Amino acid sequence: MRTPVAELFQTPYSLSFESAGNARFAVYNPANGAFLADVPDAGAAETSAAIARAYAAFPAWAATPAIERANLLRRVAALMIDRREQLATVMTLEQGKPLSEARGEIAYAASFFTWFAGEAERVYGQLIPASVAGKRLMVLQQPVGVCALITPWNFPTAMLTRKLGAALAAGCTAVCKPAEQTPLSALELEKLFIEAGAPAGIVTVLPASDPRPFADTIFADERVRKISFTGSTEIGKLLIRRSADSVKRISVELGGNAPFIVFDDSNLDAAVSGAIASKFRNAGQTCVCANRIFVQRGIYQRFAQTFSARVAQLRVGDGMQDGNEIGPLIDDPAAEKVAQHVADATDNGARVLVGGSTLAENKRFWMPTVLADARADMLVAREETFGPVAPLIPFEHETEVIGMANNSSYGLAAYVFTQNISRAWRMAEGLEYGIVGMNDGMPSTAQAPFGGVKQSGIGREGGPQGIAEYLNVKYVSWGVE
Ligand code: SIN
Repeated sequence: MRTPVAELFQTPYSLSFESAGNARFAVYNPANGAFLADVPDAGAAETSAAIARAYAAFPAWAATPAIERANLLRRVAALMIDRREQLATVMTLEQGKPLSEARGEIAYAASFFTWFAGEAERVYGQLIPASVAGKRLMVLQQPVGVCALITPWNFPTAMLTRKLGAALAAGCTAVCKPAEQTPLSALELEKLFIEAGAPAGIVTVLPASDPRPFADTIFADERVRKISFTGSTEIGKLLIRRSADSVKRISVELGGNAPFIVFDDSNLDAAVSGAIASKFRNAGQTCVCANRIFVQRGIYQRFAQTFSARVAQLRVGDGMQDGNEIGPLIDDPAAEKVAQHVADATDNGARVLVGGSTLAENKRFWMPTVLADARADMLVAREETFGPVAPLIPFEHETEVIGMANNSSYGLAAYVFTQNISRAWRMAEGLEYGIVGMNDGMPSTAQAPFGGVKQSGIGREGGPQGIAEYLNVKYVSWGVE
């Protein structure tokens, strides 16, 4: 049942603990600029108080049997599924993505809790055979402590649960700063933790209109032992530098410039569907979106035609209206960046096959756009567009395309469509990327490690690797008489 929008924001949002500050900031709908709600604006004092709560909660949570930690995560996941319609509505209102995608994101987000609930029970130690008779060597894995989790606006719930599921399963506690554009989804999630009976202080959400006081406080505070960030490469580099001063563990999931490679021998329909799923999910606002679509000459015309015909059918409009598949971009600068990329491409010889402009009545809604005859030196191929623009770049040979694909300082996700098994192996091994979708436009899943190489990041989220980011390894050497 669809929740009437007015009912969603009846109760004012508050912090989950008493705070002296009463500053608040407003959250707006990117589709129409309408005011949605205002939320507490956490500064340094609130961040410090939340860290103190997380630090106080840590010993008991770390000592809680893994099965109980797992059960809390399972209870919250069940509540998320139960309230999916309401949570998805809040997400669409504050983020803009179509309601069908928001529903999908809630299920995806809940899957991180159920996956990490299982992983909580599989945090094993190790016994190592010693090289001398009177010793026993043992390895323990222990939670790192208080974690600061900083999440982006493009997946307001899933990027939080991907970090939080791993942190809580490992026995860590967390202070979480959602993006200033989309704090409501995080606050809704925090409410579910309270409803599920989570111990006070293990999860605190701190919305903030200005991220700097939060950042200054977490870096200055010795009690914070780990930072996990998803966002731009520029901010990620800044955080890596700052983490050096107090030697905090840090993982960062940053930008991408994903190549999507279609060989002559691919299944055309599968390649077209994969490209649409990868390129147009969330209006092109994902770090793993296909950014450069390389198509081999022999299939180029047929791919361009079939792909363009499918793209032309995608419906653009307010995500709250059933049937719309492409929502607004998050803000005006995002829409201007897309305009700049399209203009640079067309000025330099690319042809618009579909789209190429915004809706006349609202410049945040970019029409899904296909550009033929794009080149690797164009802005649209050099930088991450983060919008619904698909540049098609022709190529001749496998070695040529692998060179072009790897010619980027990013290395998050790459996609290959081919039915030649040997080529598939060569490509999977040769691409300098953390994730390869082989005949698969949507590889992300809770069970698999998500993360990049080069300037796309450090560390992995999801999969067995995801929980390791929140565990310290302790070696114990025992003398035995
Ligand atoms: C992202 O854009 O960073 C996440 C996308 C995903 O999980 O598939």
